[in-house]
Amino acid sequence: MNLGGVMAKKKPIEMSTNFVKLIKDWQKLEDETIRYADTLMKKSKNRLVKMTMEMIKHDSQKHKAMQQMLIDSLTKEPFILSPDDLASLSDGLNKHLAAEAKSLELADQALNSSEMFVTRYILSYLIADEQKHHNLLGKLNELKRATVFVT
Ligand SMILES: [Fe+2]
Ligand SMILES: [Fe+2]
Repeated sequence: MNLGGVMAKKKPIEMSTNFVKLIKDWQKLEDETIRYADTLMKKSKNRLVKMTMEMIKHDSQKHKAMQQMLIDSLTKEPFILSPDDLASLSDGLNKHLAAEAKSLELADQALNSSEMFVTRYILSYLIADEQKHHNLLGKLNELKRATVFVT
């Protein structure tokens, strides 16, 4: 149908039932991984195994909460983030970003000068986390310069 060159505004794909279902299916799997982590944690006497399972369990609980926030933002009230929300945090964000960058630098230094499996195993996990923190803050920091609203 020709609408005289005017396109009907399309709803974002995230609002589709399929997308929300995908996130909900994924969220259900978190319960399963929490159960497995719990079982293995109790079954093993090894502290490294226990620590690994503990971390995965915590991460999965965090994932569940974040998936729920995402689902709510799509089905209830949307999240909105504007450059103004970040402008007043500018100084704090920059300092935090620098601290995370420094953490990453020290962690990298430790990894590069280590050779034991256990050290490298733990450091790799921590580095991935520090990278994550730095990336998240970096994205927020970039948004300060944007002039559009982000939904
Ligand atoms: Fe997960
Ligand atoms: Fe960090």
